[in-house]
Amino acid sequence: MKIIVTGGAGFIGSNFIFYMLNKYPDYKIICLDMLTYAGNLETLKDIMDNENFSFYRGDIADKEFVDNLFESEKPDMVVNFAAESHVDRSIEDPGIFLKTNILGTQVLMDACRKYGIKRYHQVSTDEVYGDLPLDRPDLLFTEETPIHTSSPYSSSKAGADLLVLAYHRTYGLPVSISRCSNNYGPYHFPEKLIPLMIANALADKPLPVYGEGLNVRDWLYVEVHCRAIDLIIHNGKVGEVYNVGGHNEKANIEIVKMILDALEKPYSLITYVADRKGHDLRYAIDPTKISNELGWLPETKFEDGIKRTIDWYLSNKNWWENIINGEYQNYYKRMYEERV
Ligand code: NAD
Ligand code: TYD
Repeated sequence: MKIIVTGGAGFIGSNFIFYMLNKYPDYKIICLDMLTYAGNLETLKDIMDNENFSFYRGDIADKEFVDNLFESEKPDMVVNFAAESHVDRSIEDPGIFLKTNILGTQVLMDACRKYGIKRYHQVSTDEVYGDLPLDRPDLLFTEETPIHTSSPYSSSKAGADLLVLAYHRTYGLPVSISRCSNNYGPYHFPEKLIPLMIANALADKPLPVYGEGLNVRDWLYVEVHCRAIDLIIHNGKVGEVYNVGGHNEKANIEIVKMILDALEKPYSLITYVADRKGHDLRYAIDPTKISNELGWLPETKFEDGIKRTIDWYLSNKNWWENIINGEYQNYYKRMYEERV
């Protein structure tokens, strides 16, 4: 089995590659990544010499490059993680989100049609369903919940999802889609809530909480998401969408306080800042379908996962300090010091 994993130098894609190389010693994994600000070859350094792994730097929206790659590698499957993934950046500058997330998906699927494929899997997000009210804990996203997006990011992911399903219906492309809740774990880029709060707390810098910190996310340990994708690409039905989430809803402020407690830092570091525009209130996934059909369960408890994550950031300071000491500083200044 030969699998092209796009976006494999990013957070979830790299964790997925490690998971697959470890679980399937006879599989070949080919990583296609453009190495944007979010992609980091340092993350993949331990597997660069693995004979079952190869890396190509390229843009999923570059048709000629993608076609050449398919022609030379002849993959059996494609798992598409490559995306612009940060909501705040999409609010600043939507264009690249549409290019990579929608047109990139089209280019990949056109190559799948041209060269033949056993499965094209699209890694999507629960954010395509919009948000849920804070005072209705009984409401959860199911696969039937209408698409109803809030940000340029989620709209671009929703556009890609619709295109994936259209390629199945129109061309019979063997596709599947997973829509997962917020992931956390090793190699998470420090612009996202959990790693940003860990990094700032360790540096005794203010922890910028949007609005009142009451927005709720449904957190899932990244490895458990990887296992869900593994099950879907091998046993999931073609043409289907699977929601992935751990019934682990937490308000942002709870997460921030948990991190401060774990690092023995004072709550006085918490700083409430201007809210995100269009900020989704609550995400919550109903994972009944993947549990019933594929036997998937969110095994890792949040208390264990967050401890492992904090320990990882403590033991891998080089990895994230290199990031926050580079170009990231300009982003941080724009996003937080000039925030209105
Ligand atoms: P990430 O930003 O950490 O990584 C994205 C990777 O894609 C980077 O390595 C980047 O270099 C690469 N990339 C970007 N544009 C590219 C292009 N045009 N061509 C090739 N490579 C390109 O993102 P992540 O958090 O790992 O998310 C991966 C996928 O999972 C995304 O599709 C995202 O929408 C989805 N998702 C993320 C979460 C989450 O909590 N992080 C939850 C659900 C779904
Ligand atoms: P984020 O990690 O960006 O993921 P998403 O927006 O895709 O859910 O943000 C998670 C939550 O944390 C979201 O409600 C916004 C909030 N947040 C802050 O309060 N402060 C921050 O500095 C960041 C990055 C996020």
